[in-house]
Amino acid sequence: MQRIFSGIQPTGNLHLGNYLGAIRNWVRLQDEYECLFCVVDMHALTAWQEPRELVANTREVTAGLLAAGLDPERNIIFNQSQVRGHAQLAWIFSCVARMGWLNRMTQFKEKAGKHRENASVGLFAYPTLMAADILLYKATHVPVGEDQKQHLELTRDIAQKFNNDFGVEFFPLVEPLIFGAATRVMSLRDGTNKMSKSDPSDYSRINMTDDADTIVVKIRKAKTDPAPLPAEPDGLEDRPEAANLLGLYGALSETSLEETCQRFAGASFSDFKNEFAELSVSVLGPIQDEMRRLSADPGHVDAVLRQGAGRARDLAAPILAEIEEIVGYLRP
Ligand code: AMP
Ligand code: TRP
Repeated sequence: MQRIFSGIQPTGNLHLGNYLGAIRNWVRLQDEYECLFCVVDMHALTAWQEPRELVANTREVTAGLLAAGLDPERNIIFNQSQVRGHAQLAWIFSCVARMGWLNRMTQFKEKAGKHRENASVGLFAYPTLMAADILLYKATHVPVGEDQKQHLELTRDIAQKFNNDFGVEFFPLVEPLIFGAATRVMSLRDGTNKMSKSDPSDYSRINMTDDADTIVVKIRKAKTDPAPLPAEPDGLEDRPEAANLLGLYGALSETSLEETCQRFAGASFSDFKNEFAELSVSVLGPIQDEMRRLSADPGHVDAVLRQGAGRARDLAAPILAEIEEIVGYLRP
């Protein structure tokens, strides 16, 4: 049986990049695999979170997953901190991983920036917790965006070193599942920057909670260039904003970039934007309605997380017990 694990941080502002790059793909996987989808609140702590906001964001992201169509019966949906095994295995893995491996992580370098000495130890160790998330369940496949590929390679290195050090064939080597369309949705204000939760400008992204009017305004204000739209993808070279907007249209309408270009060949951005806004509202509208309904019912969201955590604990318990025996913890 192939088992999927993936995670998303509850750091607020779920946006179109999260939806197209991650969540929508998860919805497709639920038919084919046994899946665990985890709201990784422990990862969120690597940067300062206002405690009350962390609680609210954990519920909001969960509502987003449910609203997008993830079925809490077929999948295990839970928040990370409810299953203690993640922290317990992360400690073991932080003793397996080498400082040099973590030093090479580009996400740490980006996030710590010039203030390395001021970054939390957790931000540095983050990939060992991510490896623990996956391997606590011996997951075999992990759907992620491009940005997470390096962390998955590290997960494989940790699994391999653990197996070698202890002379066991215990952990599987996980495979990334990278989806073709929309692996990198870019900012609406700058086509060379990733659409991100943390961009200070809200006009840079379409949030999953934006209402129709807000979406229309954000798309109208999105950065473009003066040329008309090209007939072929080749014509998008050196036009990052045009490439991003057409790519988004293609992803939302589930048509190829070629077809999207043909459809809008020679059109002005303003005509294109009208159709793009209409499409965005029609795809996101029903999800937003459901998110709104769920946000009025936090008891239901909490019940989903509680039930998911119980199932996750049941899966993890025998695996963690074996790991603890392998490393030599005495259990008198
Ligand atoms: P994060 O927002 O960093 O917690 O990411 C959650 C998931 O969304 C991960 O699988 C990311 O790869 C994906 N993701 C985040 N931002 C983007 C983006 N701009 N384009 C595509 N996927 C994204
Ligand atoms: N690091 C991932 C991100 O920032 C989130 C994550 C945590 C994750 N644990 C994971 C993704 C395990 C896949 C598998 O997007």
